[in-house]
Amino acid sequence: MDDYRQAAYRAIDLLAEHVAASRAGLEPVTAQPDPAALVDELGVAGWIRNGGMDASSFADWLPRYLDATVRLHHPGSMVHQIGVPCTGAALADLIHGATNNPMAKYEMGAAGATLEHELVRWLLRKVGFDPVAGDGVLTHGGSLANLTALLAARASAAPDAWRHGVPGDLALLAPPSVHYSVRRAAGILGLGEDAVVELEVDELERIRPDRLEYALERCRAAGLRPFALVAVAGATSTGLHDDLRSIATFSERHGIWLHVDAAHGASALLSDRHRHLLDGVELADSVIWDAHKMLRTSGLCAAVLVRRAADLTGAFRQQGDYLFYESDSVGFDVLDRAVESTKTTLGLKLFLALAWLGEQGLGEYVASRYELARRLYDRLQCVPGVTCPYIPESNILCFRVEGVDQLALRDRLLAEGRLHIGATTIAGRRYLRVVVMAPDTNEATLDELVLALESERVAAPGRA
Ligand SMILES: Cc1ncc(COP(=O)(O)O)c(C=O)c1O
Repeated sequence: MDDYRQAAYRAIDLLAEHVAASRAGLEPVTAQPDPAALVDELGVAGWIRNGGMDASSFADWLPRYLDATVRLHHPGSMVHQIGVPCTGAALADLIHGATNNPMAKYEMGAAGATLEHELVRWLLRKVGFDPVAGDGVLTHGGSLANLTALLAARASAAPDAWRHGVPGDLALLAPPSVHYSVRRAAGILGLGEDAVVELEVDELERIRPDRLEYALERCRAAGLRPFALVAVAGATSTGLHDDLRSIATFSERHGIWLHVDAAHGASALLSDRHRHLLDGVELADSVIWDAHKMLRTSGLCAAVLVRRAADLTGAFRQQGDYLFYESDSVGFDVLDRAVESTKTTLGLKLFLALAWLGEQGLGEYVASRYELARRLYDRLQCVPGVTCPYIPESNILCFRVEGVDQLALRDRLLAEGRLHIGATTIAGRRYLRVVVMAPDTNEATLDELVLALESERVAAPGRA
């Protein structure tokens, strides 16, 4: 592997420079070249046809690839809920790329399987689940984690569904703003999207616990059997949290499985100042948590966690003779708990992120991003024509610049290359949306954003 050694050294130098330039904000935060031009620039057809890339031509090619990437480390990158990988997590991808121990069975990679097992116990403890009675599995993303949790909920309500199909009366209670992967899961699970019964929410799209009994009555009157309720900790649009404790009390009273989608918000459990946002999460039946959002790992690395271990194994009732053979083999197999068969060594990413930054370091990172979003909220209160519909609870903040086309404003900022922000709708109204993720986003970045919004108002005072 001399070729590998030489190319990898070059790659690491180039990547380190790329990250340093991104962190310093020296290059545009994102590039959106014409795809056809990019195909040429990257020599796609020639490389596919002829092969032959070596350390030297790779070192020539990689900067061209990197030039067309989104720079998540850039302080002005404030759009996606995508983690900014720390050194440890980035190294995990390097290790996996060379060793490729697919995680399904212990015998396919003892080190990775052991780390996954230990990391799942760590996540269970953080959520407040008993790490012995509970269980979990790392998945390729929150969408798959939601699907897995809802499969477990379905198995608990309708154990025969795996073999005989899904009863037509099952209903899944969720707020209208729930992440689309929940509706998609309803489709995949054979419940059908129509099985999702929308719960009443407040003007900021949070579940109204005082209206849950009414929702249940409505379902029963329609002959439906609500088997699970999805609450959200860190809503995709707003970053706000449902009142988990009140919702858990309702769910427990009626024997309805409570699933908490904490893909974004669970990382606040590491911050003493923000843990209260998840009060009551420990009462849930299942929880999902994306490490590739706020725990500084690369995508993908998510977890589905259940309070009772048997609920997860009960979700999957399939046998594959060539893999599920009976034996007293050592270690932990995850095949009976995961949708995936082959997986990457997801535990390694999270382990090395923790090993590099520590629990406390990650908690401080989360807290600092949440507090900077709050600081932006405070600053926007002084910008004429800018309105924020809520005080942010997390690192996601929405606002409007009145009298301006929000999407056109976002596009202008994007074209300038300094600030990459997003947009969303809340209760049907368009807002700009900022997600403070990059560790280097700071007060100076906020100055830049505030200035850009102020100049927008000066440039376009009368636009509708
Ligand atoms: C609340 C919530 N749940 C689930 C997901 C899906 O996660 P993933 O993109 O890892 O599949 C997201 C993604 O942003 C999310 O915000």
